[in-house]
Amino acid sequence: LFSGPIEFLKSAPGLQFLPSPDAPEIAFAGRSNVGKSSLINALTNRNKLARASNTPGRTQELNFFDVGNPLVFRLVDMPGYGFAEAPKDMVKRWRFLINDYLRGRQVLKRTLVLVDGRHGLKDVDRDVMTMLDKAAVSYNLVITKADKVKPTELEKRLDAIRTESAKHPACHPVLYPTSSETGDGIAELRTAVLEAART
Ligand code: GTP
Ligand code: MG
Repeated sequence: LFSGPIEFLKSAPGLQFLPSPDAPEIAFAGRSNVGKSSLINALTNRNKLARASNTPGRTQELNFFDVGNPLVFRLVDMPGYGFAEAPKDMVKRWRFLINDYLRGRQVLKRTLVLVDGRHGLKDVDRDVMTMLDKAAVSYNLVITKADKVKPTELEKRLDAIRTESAKHPACHPVLYPTSSETGDGIAELRTAVLEAART
């Protein structure tokens, strides 16, 4: 499926602009600049499907991508959270958009919560995880930028994250370390996404 047709469908700046809920959705959440858009490009093997950038706050709306023709499921790129330098009202608007979408979307099959391998879990991540627990929305943690961390350090960080995430009821126990840069872990995550979209 990931090597077949994949197309940008639409951007939704607010909940009233969401596409009709006619296919399963997989959402990508995480702090600003963690690598959400880059991961979508790596998974789909396209360079510029989702717009990635060095500047935090690049993705400002919910962006929907159709996978398969006929449509099988959708990938949803989201604005980042925890972006301290952005204007306050913008941050607030994004938080409401993200939270409302994640809590209320019937066709949402799985959320991937991305965590920068260099930084580990931050309080904003914990807040989102707790929100997803309460809403019973199942999610996986995905480590990004694994290429930027020494292997021994990465293993320690993964262990710490596994221990902590075990306390979150809606969090799946499998943790995916990835690098959109080197492609490490991308094939494994692809398999997990396909499985989640089909259940
Ligand atoms: P916002 O849309 O602003 O919330 O950011 P985002 O989470 O979509 O991050 P994006 O994909 O735009 O990537 C941010 C920066 O991190 C870009 O400069 C990417 O090239 C870089 N980046 C993303 N993934 C990786 C990775 O696996 N390894 C390395 N080394 N850099 C990465
Ligand atoms: Mg982005």
